[in-house]
Order: sequence, then structure tokens, then C-alpha cells
Amino acid sequence: MKNLLKVMSLLTIAGFLFTACEGPMGPQGPAGTNGTNGTNGTNGTNGKDANETCKLCHNKTVVEAVANEFHYSLHAQGEAYEEGTRNACAPCHSSQGFLNVVAKSTPATFAGPDASNKYTNNYVAEASALALPAPIGCFTCHSALHTNYAGTEFSPLATTSPVKMTMWGAAKEINFVKTDANLCSKCHQPRPITGSNGNVIDYSKLVSDPTATYNLSSISYRTGVHYGTQGAMAAGVGAIEFGTGTYTQSAHVANASCNTCHMATPSGLAGGHSFSATANYNGCNATGCHSTMSATNATLTAAKADVATLITQLAADINAAGGGHDILEKDADGTYHGYFDIYDATANPDGYWKNPNLGNVALPALTNAQFGAILNYQLVVRGGGKGVHNYPYIKKLLEESIAAI
Ligand code: HEC
Ligand code: HEC
Ligand code: HEC
Ligand code: HEC
Ligand code: HEC
Repeated sequence: MKNLLKVMSLLTIAGFLFTACEGPMGPQGPAGTNGTNGTNGTNGTNGKDANETCKLCHNKTVVEAVANEFHYSLHAQGEAYEEGTRNACAPCHSSQGFLNVVAKSTPATFAGPDASNKYTNNYVAEASALALPAPIGCFTCHSALHTNYAGTEFSPLATTSPVKMTMWGAAKEINFVKTDANLCSKCHQPRPITGSNGNVIDYSKLVSDPTATYNLSSISYRTGVHYGTQGAMAAGVGAIEFGTGTYTQSAHVANASCNTCHMATPSGLAGGHSFSATANYNGCNATGCHSTMSATNATLTAAKADVATLITQLAADINAAGGGHDILEKDADGTYHGYFDIYDATANPDGYWKNPNLGNVALPALTNAQFGAILNYQLVVRGGGKGVHNYPYIKKLLEESIAAI
């Protein structure tokens, strides 16, 4: 009933409107002339002075505070940036070299073979990025700084893209769920072993043909995966995976970024932009992670002890191949860092194998498995972290390496 009344009254109004509007159309009037221009509007308010935005960053709590933290970082203190004069080293050692390979999306592939059957590593910085290399600094990771002098240019970071691994000639990649860890891993990744033709070796042979004599490359004092292996270990990718069964990953791989642990709220001489994780557990003790992590926490001490035992065992097994003399060089600290104890006039003049002053004894033939185990040894030992980076993966890697040789 109510609705019917509503409809009826609407019809009444409509009818009234129609009868009221419909009249005959009158004749059109003459066209009008243009009106005169209006007066100018008032001036807008002045734009923000660029100097004002400087203060958003250049103050005690932003640039000054972070610069103080950064002072403690080996990125700021170290001298490894001087290696940046060489095109093969610059991508990870100098600010210019790094920004060059980022800007050019330089591939981690190998090119070849050329007319003389040689390959070259594409992962090098251009000549223009090699003079007077600068250390890694604010502008390396925060590459957008001073573009528009806006206060927001700490992001984006220089790169957070998946990292094609140079060790594998781009055949494997490191790609963290927390993508800012890819920034670190672009530099903190292992380097390739190359054969006499310059190409990256076929690592799969180390696993598939374990008892054959290793002949994929020559072996010298420094043969190996270089130092910055942390990205690979923390991501659990790119090692020589012997054995069967899955290599399981720590919860850290998907849930933590390098920054969670290495840029945690500062404490003592670590945290923030010091990038040090030494004895700082602020990043560990967070909602959804740990609550009682400390230097004496049993989970941590047990994992560290387990990894230390496995490392010692693997070193002993590798050295046994020397038939009475170590294969690996014993460091002054009494442990093995993964160098071969091969004579090198400058770096290892006391080296035993191939030493002209010690009878030029040949390095005993190694099997593919032994060589692979040595690469794994380097990956773990040079990655530091004592197992913290990815305990299940590192444990399995060491156990399978021990079993393989
Ligand atoms: C988004 C933050 C940010 C803004 C905005 C900003 N700066 Fe900077 N600026 C930095 C950082 C970070 C550094 C490096 C500090 C260090 O190395 O300790 C820096 C360094 C500098 C330096 C030292 C020389 C150099 O380039 O390393 C000068 C000079 C400078 N800024 C001037 C300015 C001026 C002028 C403005 C405003 C027009 C400005 N900045 C705006 C972040 C900023
Ligand atoms: C441009 C390459 C590059 C990037 C990006 C980079 N690093 Fe480094 N990092 C290095 C180099 C090279 C060294 C060694 C510096 C030296 O010894 O002079 C180093 C040193 C370190 C050290 C000290 C290692 C030690 O032996 O004490 C830590 C920790 C570290 N980096 C963590 C990180 C973290 C975390 C990130 C990401 C937020 C990162 N790095 C990003 C190249 C890089
Ligand atoms: C793929 C990246 C990468 C490339 C390429 C690279 N490095 Fe490094 N290098 C690193 C990282 C990362 C570190 C620091 C690792 C750490 O402290 O844990 C490092 C450390 C070093 C160190 C210091 C070792 C120490 O403990 O004192 C030397 C020396 C060095 N590199 C030399 C070179 C030379 C020479 C080249 C070129 C022939 C080169 N690197 C190429 C990533 C790289
Ligand atoms: C090795 C790479 C690296 C270097 C070098 C570096 N930073 Fe950072 N910075 C980062 C990363 C990664 C973050 C993000 C940290 C996070 O959110 O966990 C960050 C965050 C920041 C932030 C916070 C930004 C925001 O949006 O909240 C500031 C400020 C900053 N950095 C300033 C600096 C200054 C100043 C320097 C030089 C003294 C510097 N950074 C050097 C990697 C770097
Ligand atoms: C779960 C926490 C955690 C994560 C995630 C993590 N680290 Fe570490 N890292 C550590 C701890 C703890 C150490 C050993 C520090 C010590 O005892 O001195 C360490 C050691 C290192 C070292 C050796 C130098 C040093 O400070 O002792 C480097 C370099 C490093 N980490 C880089 C990285 C990079 C790059 C990533 C990301 C790809 C990463 N870490 C991820 C906790 C972490």
C-alpha cells in the first residue's frame, strides 16, 4: 500500500513537470562578442627551498647517527675496495664497480668459445668504473640519494633483484623471500672455479663421477670459491650437494633477512649500520622468532659445537689425502681456512706442495669427490656464522661431504 502511494505521487509529479516544461521554441538571438580578459590571479606560494629538504637527512638523528654506526663497519674500515682497480674484482669490491654491474645488468654468464676455444667471464665491471675505486658507502646501497634531494631517497636500495650466481655461471640463483637480502648477496656470494679454457667447471661431475681423478682445473694455493660465501649458505643454494635425501633449510632462510641479524637494534659494538652480528641478539629475540637467544642459549651453543666438530672432521679427512702431509694450509690460528698448502712465491712461500725449495713434491691426485668436499669446506668456513646462517643445510652439507670422501 505504502509503495503504491509512492508510485502514484511520483507519477503525479512527473506529469506536472512535463506539462510545465513543454512550450513552443522562440527565435535564436544574435551571437555575443568575446568578453575582455580577466585580471591576473595572485601569485602562488613559493616552492620548498631545496636547502630545507637537506635538513630532513642532514641532522643528528638521520645521517649523523647512521654515519656513526657505519664507522664500525668493515665496509667503511676495510681496504678491500682497493681491489676495485681490476675489472673482475670491482663488481663486489668498489662502489663504482658494484653500481656499474647493477646499472648494466651485467650477466653472470660465461661467453665462448671463441676462435681459440677460450671462454671469458662476463661478470666484470667496465673500464670507466675502475679508476680510484671508492669504498662501499651510503651511496652504494642507497643509490638514489641526492637524485632529487627529497628526504625519501634512502629507498629504493641499489638492487633487490634475484642474484644469478657467478660461481655457477648464472645457472643457479640466490633469491630471498626478504628481498633486501639479495642486495647483500650480490657481493657476498662465492666465485667460480674455471678450467684451462676459461670456462666455469661442470660441478655436477664432482657428484656424479666421485672417484675419477679431478682434472677440471689446475690447483693452486688460492683455488676455490673466494670469501663472501654467506649469501649462498644463508640461502641454502649452490654448494656441491653430495648424497641423497633433501637438504632442508633453516627457518631463517624464509623468515630472516641478512638485516634481521646484521642490522638489528645496536648493542655494544654491533647492530645497525655496523653490519656486525657479533654478540648482538636483539634481532633474534623478536615476536615469532626467539625469546631467550643469547651467547649461552643451548640451541645456539649446540649448533655451533656440532658444526665445529664436523668442520674439524672434514678438514682431517681432506688432509688424509696428503698421505702424511696436509693438503690444506694450516693458518697461524691453528685452523684450516681452505687454502691449499701449495707453494706460492708471495702468498705461501713455505707451502709444502710444488715448493722448489722443498723438492718440488707434486700435490697428490685428488678425486672429484675430494675436490668437491674442499669447495664445501671453503663455503662453510669462509661464510662465518658458525652454522647460524642455515644450520640444517650446513650440517647436511658437511655430513655428506665427510661421507663422500
Ligand atoms: C635523503 C637524504 C638526503 C638528503 C635529502 C640530502 N642528503 Fe646530502 N647526503 C646524504 C647522505 C646519506 C650523505 C653521505 C653521508 C656520509 O657519507 O656520511 C650525504 C652527503 C652529503 C655531502 C657530502 C659530500 C658527498 O656527496 O658525499 C654534501 C655536501 C651533501 N650531502 C649536501 C646535501 C645538500 C646541499 C642537500 C640538499 C640540497 C642534501 N645533501 C640533501 C643524504 C641526504
Ligand atoms: C658492493 C658489495 C657489497 C655489498 C652490497 C655488501 N657487502 Fe658486505 N662486504 C663487502 C666486502 C668487499 C667486504 C670486506 C670489506 C673489507 O675487508 O675491506 C664486506 C664486509 C662485510 C662484513 C664484515 C665481514 C667480516 O669479515 O668481518 C659484514 C658483516 C658484511 N659485509 C655484511 C653485509 C650485509 C649484511 C650487507 C647487506 C645489507 C652487505 N654486507 C652488503 C661487500 C659488500
Ligand atoms: C662476487 C663478489 C666478489 C668478487 C668478484 C671478488 N670478491 Fe673479493 N671479497 C668479496 C667479499 C664479499 C669479501 C668479504 C668477505 C668477508 O669478509 O666475509 C671479499 C674479500 C676479499 C679479500 C679480503 C680477504 C680477507 O679476509 O682479508 C680479498 C683480498 C679479496 N676479496 C680479493 C679479491 C680479488 C683480488 C678479486 C678479483 C680477482 C676479488 N676479490 C673478487 C667478494 C668478491
Ligand atoms: C651495505 C649496504 C648499506 C650501506 C653501505 C648503507 N646502508 Fe643504510 N640501509 C641499508 C639497508 C639494507 C637498510 C634497510 C634496513 C632495514 O630496514 O632493515 C638501510 C636503512 C637506512 C636508513 C633508514 C631508512 C628508512 O627509510 O627508514 C637510513 C637513514 C640509512 N640507511 C642511512 C644510511 C647512511 C647515512 C649510510 C652511510 C653512512 C648508509 N645508510 C649506508 C643498507 C645500507
Ligand atoms: C639468523 C641470523 C643471521 C642471518 C639471517 C644472517 N647472518 Fe650473517 N652472521 C650471523 C652470525 C650470528 C654471525 C657470526 C657473528 C660472530 O659470531 O662473530 C654471522 C656471520 C657473518 C659474516 C662473517 C663476519 C662476521 O661478522 O662474523 C658475514 C660476512 C655475514 N654473516 C654476512 C651475512 C649475509 C650477507 C647474510 C644474508 C645473505 C647473513 N649474514 C645472514 C647471523 C646471521
